Amino acid sequence: MSKRVKIFDTTLRDGEQAPGCSMNLREKLEVARRLEKLKVDVIEAGFAISSPGDFESVKAIAERIKDCTVASLARCARADIDAAYEALKPAVDPRIHVFIATSPIHMEYKLRMKPDEVLESIEEMVRYAKSKCSNIEFSAEDAMRSDPEFLAKAVDVAIRSGAAVINIPDTVGYATPVEMREMLEYLIREVPNADTVEFSVHCHNDLGMATANTLAGILGGASQVECTINGLGERAGNAPLEEIVMAINTRRNLYGAETRVDTTKIYKASKLVYDIIGRTPPINKPIVGTNAFAHEAGIHQHGVLANRSTYEIMTPASIGIRTNKMVLGKHSGRHAFETRLLELGFELSPAELESCFAEFKKLCDKKKEISDSDLEALARNRQPVEHDDGYVLERFTVHSGNMSTATAVVVLRKGEERFEEVALGDGPIDAAYKAIDKIIQPPAHSLENYGIHSVSEGKDSLGEVIVSLKMADRLFNGKGLSTDIIEASILAYINAVNKLMRQIR
Ligand code: KIV
Ligand code: ZN
Repeated sequence: MSKRVKIFDTTLRDGEQAPGCSMNLREKLEVARRLEKLKVDVIEAGFAISSPGDFESVKAIAERIKDCTVASLARCARADIDAAYEALKPAVDPRIHVFIATSPIHMEYKLRMKPDEVLESIEEMVRYAKSKCSNIEFSAEDAMRSDPEFLAKAVDVAIRSGAAVINIPDTVGYATPVEMREMLEYLIREVPNADTVEFSVHCHNDLGMATANTLAGILGGASQVECTINGLGERAGNAPLEEIVMAINTRRNLYGAETRVDTTKIYKASKLVYDIIGRTPPINKPIVGTNAFAHEAGIHQHGVLANRSTYEIMTPASIGIRTNKMVLGKHSGRHAFETRLLELGFELSPAELESCFAEFKKLCDKKKEISDSDLEALARNRQPVEHDDGYVLERFTVHSGNMSTATAVVVLRKGEERFEEVALGDGPIDAAYKAIDKIIQPPAHSLENYGIHSVSEGKDSLGEVIVSLKMADRLFNGKGLSTDIIEASILAYINAVNKLMRQIR
């Protein structure tokens, strides 16, 4: 019989705290709902004490999510545990996730605590958390650089104080698979009453071994794994959920394990998270990259045509990639449009649907056939209805050439007001961005990233532009979509500047 492995998703906590990955409340709720549909077991919704915004999002997720445990992180401190508990109160199954570091380097330089003080703190704080909530997880931060004997003591104290889940993080991505498996085996063998709790692993990807280490943790006895969608997370990221789940499924013979994840929802969840953070996957990213199921080489194509399993160990359908692409056009009605969006995983509010359908009709005048990729791009570039307070593009004109200085005239609207500016620049996009800056006058910022890609095939394809602006260590991502790449660039910039301006209000 297979052993059941629980999936603890920390996209909204460990993933979201990575630079350029922050999400607003609406986006966090959308991800949480998607994770619930994906059927993860635990959603770590945030770190309630870290900011009022985090507190609110943990609370909002706790109120709405019914089919998953909802967790909040807390240091070994009463105020942290109180905040986590308060935010989690409405949850059907709340979990307080208490952590403290156990490695010599963290204890000495970060905590400035002696090992015995750390053990006392674990005892006191896990007991305190347990007095408020029955479901307590304890994490020994930097466990994989801790002395195994001391780690075993820490785990023993946590179990005696009431922890139900013991998490072993490889915080800095230092471990190897053999070490991970052996550490789990050692702890489960040596710690009294280890069989009364659940063991978990939490791996970072600094040496590119997060997935391998997580899977090794399962072989060592872990029955919970912590991961993020697309491997989002600080530095090289956390272990990617999609890789772990598909490895468990594809190599069932080896791991003898199963999860309750609905794998056919993986692709949509991955896309949603990339869209929200304004990124696209590296083309060769396992499972969800554009090339993950592409067969270019003649010899591979020949094999796949004869029998798919020659070069394919998983099917695109198993992660929810549709191969029967449908095409809509100018005669398609609102109902067909809405139905197709639902099939593609977009549940739009009536107002969003209205504006998206209007964009679809405009696009039909420019393109004969509208593919699924176009529809998805339209849906993910929709403007949130609550954000009708920003600048919108009314019109623009640019002149540029290889022998002349580029000029741009941009007209923006904000409510009833119209603004027009002209600027010169190093190319048409630079000129347009300067004209926009003259109108909006955002505070000093830098353009960190500008990316453009075509949404579907063909010369009339939609171009999607993603722009990242940096202001005081915060990134603001903007997206723009048009068959005209200069218009897409302008829309993306306005979108990012609107976000930046909302932040400073
Ligand atoms: O990486 C880590 O150690 C963590 C813990 C707080 C679980 O994220
Ligand atoms: Zn982590």
